[in-house]
Amino acid sequence: MENFVYHNPTQLIFGRGQLAQLEEKARLLGPTVLLVYGGGSIKRTGLYDKVIFLLQSAGCRVHELPGVEPNPRLSTVNKGIELCRQEGVNWILAVGGGSVIDAAKAVAIGVPYEGDVWDFYTRKAVAQEALPLGTVLTLAATGSEMNRGSVITNWETQEKHGAGTTFPAFSILDPEHTFSVPRDQTIYGISDILSHVFEQYFTHTAEIPLQTRFAESIMKTVIENAERVLTNPEDYDARANILYCGTMALNGTLPVGVTTDWATHSIEHAVSAIYDIPHGGGLAIIFPKWMRYVYRENVARFVRFATEVWNVDPAGKTDDEIALEGIAATEAFFARIGAPTRLADYGITDEHLQLMAEKATPFGPIGQFKTLTSDDVAQILRLSL
Ligand code: NZQ
Ligand code: ZN
Repeated sequence: MENFVYHNPTQLIFGRGQLAQLEEKARLLGPTVLLVYGGGSIKRTGLYDKVIFLLQSAGCRVHELPGVEPNPRLSTVNKGIELCRQEGVNWILAVGGGSVIDAAKAVAIGVPYEGDVWDFYTRKAVAQEALPLGTVLTLAATGSEMNRGSVITNWETQEKHGAGTTFPAFSILDPEHTFSVPRDQTIYGISDILSHVFEQYFTHTAEIPLQTRFAESIMKTVIENAERVLTNPEDYDARANILYCGTMALNGTLPVGVTTDWATHSIEHAVSAIYDIPHGGGLAIIFPKWMRYVYRENVARFVRFATEVWNVDPAGKTDDEIALEGIAATEAFFARIGAPTRLADYGITDEHLQLMAEKATPFGPIGQFKTLTSDDVAQILRLSL
């Protein structure tokens, strides 16, 4: 096991009716708040009205940054920063999915920073200060509610980068807020959660039984609940289990003491920087191809994945056969739940393949399980067409 520091300051407030706690939180965080949300789902579900009521009950003046795009854009973040400065905003409340939370995090670090907030995403600066941030999560997927990551797209330069920004002070997760998530977004969320686990599970670090079993528990729980939630979107327990898995998959629990990979996320970010496809959709396509490309680097890990997660029967099979059966089971699962399986499903051809490969490796080779150059990425993308 590698050395580690484990620190997560986000207060997770989970369960039915927990939105009521927002009023008390708002009282503590200050009288002027920026409410950040997306394209309107929170208005359709009535969550917006409830949030406004609670903020006003706490005596807050509310300014709004609506219209945060899926794959949130730098231009929207800049609007939010300007608004906060003009209005003397004390804190930020994000209500929505990962995109809304990521945009809110960017605003939170951008306000006290004198330079261009994009500097954080191009590794020219590291965030030192931030406005306090709270979140009300409406979609199980990114884990952004309990981590310091934020992923922003600069549409002018067609770059999509992640940065370490700021942890939310609190996040309110009521599974009922995810009942209205459409089928396709539910599928993308499931794919994103599993992909986060894959990024941290496929490692060369040895002697990590606890981290390994944590990761396998999350994968099994997601797989068990995926079809339940797709059959009945208002199954509270299934939604709750997926929601909690989403948080635990990317809140710093899995990577402690482990060398993690993250190449597939870089590849997906490069694809969505050009084609603006849903993050989870891109991952469902690319991850199994990455697995096929790299599994020989540590076949034993893939054998364990096949047998523990997918119950592949190892009897009479070579390690290679078992590993490949596990990868095939992963592909079959994504197909079964209705995730896209090829880039062609989004109309993507090889036209910009080399450009995507280069955009996936802007700071040099990527990945730890197998270090990938832009040529390797191009081959994985070709397998994904
Ligand atoms: O915009 P609205 O109208 O709210 O609709 C959203 C959006 O269209 C809708 N939605 C969300 N909650 C809903 C709902 N519709 C009905 N009912 C609800 N309860 O779902 C659509 C997608 O929302 P989005 O926030 O984009 O999805 P997600 O949570 O998957 O976030 C994706 C973004 O997060 C980044 C991705 O790259 C992508 O930009 N990531 C962030 C990470 C992080 N911060 O740690 C890590 C991830 O790996 C990922 O890269
Ligand atoms: Zn992701």
